[in-house]
Amino acid sequence: MILIRECAGHDELEACVQLQVETWGYDQADVIPRKAFLVMQKIGGQIIGAFDTSLPGASTQGDPNSLIGFAMSLPGVKSGEKNGVLPRPYLHSHMLAVKEAYRNRGLGAQLKLEQRREALMRGIQLMEWTFDPLEIKNAWLNIHKLGAIVSTYRVNFYGVSSSRLQGGLPTDRLVAEWYLDSPRVTASLEGHPAPCQIEERILVPASIYQWKASDKNRERALAVQLENRQKFQHAFAWGLAVLGFTRDADGNGIFELGPLSPPGSGIEQLRNV
Ligand SMILES: CC(C)(COP(=O)(O)OP(=O)(O)OC[C@H]1O[C@@H](n2cnc3c(N)ncnc32)[C@H](O)[C@@H]1OP(=O)(O)O)[C@@H](O)C(=O)NCCC(=O)NCCS
Repeated sequence: MILIRECAGHDELEACVQLQVETWGYDQADVIPRKAFLVMQKIGGQIIGAFDTSLPGASTQGDPNSLIGFAMSLPGVKSGEKNGVLPRPYLHSHMLAVKEAYRNRGLGAQLKLEQRREALMRGIQLMEWTFDPLEIKNAWLNIHKLGAIVSTYRVNFYGVSSSRLQGGLPTDRLVAEWYLDSPRVTASLEGHPAPCQIEERILVPASIYQWKASDKNRERALAVQLENRQKFQHAFAWGLAVLGFTRDADGNGIFELGPLSPPGSGIEQLRNV
């Protein structure tokens, strides 16, 4: 059985650190240590674990050795300078990882759902995180399955990264905005994302994973990154946002962009724009 719950105690936090290293292959300079996980948890962040209680020797409550995924977030405050809106708390989700052998069976989504449930229970209505615009799988999860939107592009956000998933490319990131209680998110979670008015599409070729991973073809991945960077920046400057994401029969990913405030989406109201 898979159990999803808040991590407890130093050993479970250390298991998250180890899974972080296993997932991204970070060198010592990039690894977020156990102490930082502990502090995030104590100041209103979330360290949520997925435990496989059927592993040999695992307890029915889960324990450090049975950790097979985690989601980590930290608390933030949105400044209230615009339109006289009060400052409001939100969560920035910094890491989501599932062990390779357990991927593609809904666990990543379940960890996000537990983050959402816990945040709403505390009255928090927004969660944000960054993701690599070249990662088709993550875009599918974030935009299509969870109903996040995107209206911000950050060029080389983290600077140089030792992450093996980055393939040595600049760490460009999209910022996912997850309006936890919006009709749009509810509809996506129920499996029928709200239709949107599409004015632009940005394509990521399915081969991007191979290109990023091979020294010979990395230039091709970089070329896609640079071309798409310009397209996103241009579209966002025109007031468009990523509202949908589809995959074609060849596995290419397609970002769908449209005007930010579709009637009835509830986003405008939550965003206070
Ligand atoms: C991202 C991650 C946490 C997702 O976990 P997961 O348990 O595999 O996620 P889920 O099973 O809930 O959802 C994955 C979805 O992507 C789909 N998918 C898998 N490979 C894909 C691909 N190459 N292109 C498009 N979609 C893909 C799956 O089919 C599934 O969608 P479906 O439920 O509609 O079929 C996991 O892949 C991981 O740990 N990756 C490495 C770290 C990372 O990138 N973390 C996120 C950024 S911080």
